[in-house]
Amino acid sequence: MKKLKLVFPCEGYADEWDAIIKEMEIETIDITPYSLKHRTSDYNEYLRIVRSFASGIDIPAGKVKAATYFLVEDTKKRILGAIDIRFDLNEYLYNYGGNIGYGIRPSERRKGYATKMLALALDVCRQSGLKKVLVTCDEDNIGSRRTIEKNGGVLENIVVCEGENVMRFWINLV
Ligand SMILES: CC(C)(COP(=O)(O)OP(=O)(O)OC[C@H]1O[C@@H](n2cnc3c(N)ncnc32)[C@H](O)[C@@H]1OP(=O)(O)O)[C@@H](O)C(=O)NCCC(=O)NCCS
Repeated sequence: MKKLKLVFPCEGYADEWDAIIKEMEIETIDITPYSLKHRTSDYNEYLRIVRSFASGIDIPAGKVKAATYFLVEDTKKRILGAIDIRFDLNEYLYNYGGNIGYGIRPSERRKGYATKMLALALDVCRQSGLKKVLVTCDEDNIGSRRTIEKNGGVLENIVVCEGENVMRFWINLV
């Protein structure tokens, strides 16, 4: 496996950001994680929004403090995927959304990147003092389910959200 790292969105990734979004949007307009785009196509505006979420200041009502990271190779700028860490759980997140959301670029799937990206994000969670995190996925999303299980996810239950069976896993960080 190549050496991978998480980087907080910053200057220098605008073209790659555009490229991963375009690739994901061929598959669906509802790309995951949602915060990879934040409904803007302007990278500078995007940086402003992710910084705001990471600080927890001036974020929209109903949203929580959250950090988005790009997964990149140690020596390259290519964005392989993105992951969100939500540092609090509101009612919706506790019931369905969980602390963490992620997606891998379609052309880079099935290479172990999601498993590694979640592991790196769990290190960030640990460093920020979280003791356990909730990670959820649709029951039929086998890739995401395996990614969570390979990172120690323990299934608490399966709930229904908008007609989908959602699996709720806890990952202990201590
Ligand atoms: C789900 C997703 C993140 C998996 O990313 P990935 O980089 O392909 O995952 P990995 O390569 O780390 O694979 C993890 C495990 O899942 C398995 N897997 C991945 N995709 C799979 C698929 N489509 N069908 C069956 N198994 C799959 C892998 O084989 C591996 O298990 P194994 O080690 O037991 O063989 C990726 O498919 C994706 O971005 N999907 C769209 C967004 C999404 O669903 N995000 C998660 C929301 S909860």
